[in-house]
Amino acid sequence: MAGVFISFEGIDGAGKSTHIEGLAAALRSAGRHVTLTREPGGTPLAEKLRTLVLNDAMDAMTEALLVFAARRDHLQQLIEPALARGDIVLCDRFTDATFAYQGGGRGFDLETLSVLEHWVQALPGTPVLRQPELTVWFDLDPAIAAQRLAGARLPDKFEAQPVAFFRQVAEGYSSRMRRDPGRFVRIDAAQSREAVWQEVLRAVRARGWLR
Ligand code: TYD
Repeated sequence: MAGVFISFEGIDGAGKSTHIEGLAAALRSAGRHVTLTREPGGTPLAEKLRTLVLNDAMDAMTEALLVFAARRDHLQQLIEPALARGDIVLCDRFTDATFAYQGGGRGFDLETLSVLEHWVQALPGTPVLRQPELTVWFDLDPAIAAQRLAGARLPDKFEAQPVAFFRQVAEGYSSRMRRDPGRFVRIDAAQSREAVWQEVLRAVRARGWLR
């Protein structure tokens, strides 16, 4: 069976993590091999870079370079081999997060991000980019997300940002979806957990990856 690449996106507090684990379990029960991973991270080197990006103050370009460096290692060491084996790769965030957080949230130049995206994600010898076949976007009003996050745990550098930052991040996701609508499924994450889960299942079933 051919490999499948699915990413999960959304602002902090939108609730994607529970559902990505639920989907991994559902796919495994159906007999599929699943690689469940996350960005920044997913390999020993990329996890080290994640610690820096989430905790250390740095300018937006440094942040963008580090998340793409982490992504490069992640693609080469983990994602590409898993896809070649025929796994379903479920990735908690991918490049849309860079466009949303570094681009939208921090206002870093989108064209530079596109250049980095091409460097890091071009399939060898082609201009074709490695991208998820499906991106499930958990869209939630930043004010509601902030309420959900409040008191949940010690916030990292991004989680500590004000609601206005997350409005820009959400706009970043929205413009990525407008550029590539066929890849995205937007889920209204203000619904009940069960309703959100049903929409996740519907998106995956509609593509024939789960019965
Ligand atoms: P997140 O995925 O929310 O993990 P956790 O549930 O453990 O907090 O945290 C990752 C953070 O990194 C999130 O705030 C978004 C940020 N991020 C970027 O700023 N740029 C990126 O390219 C990626 C992948 C994540």
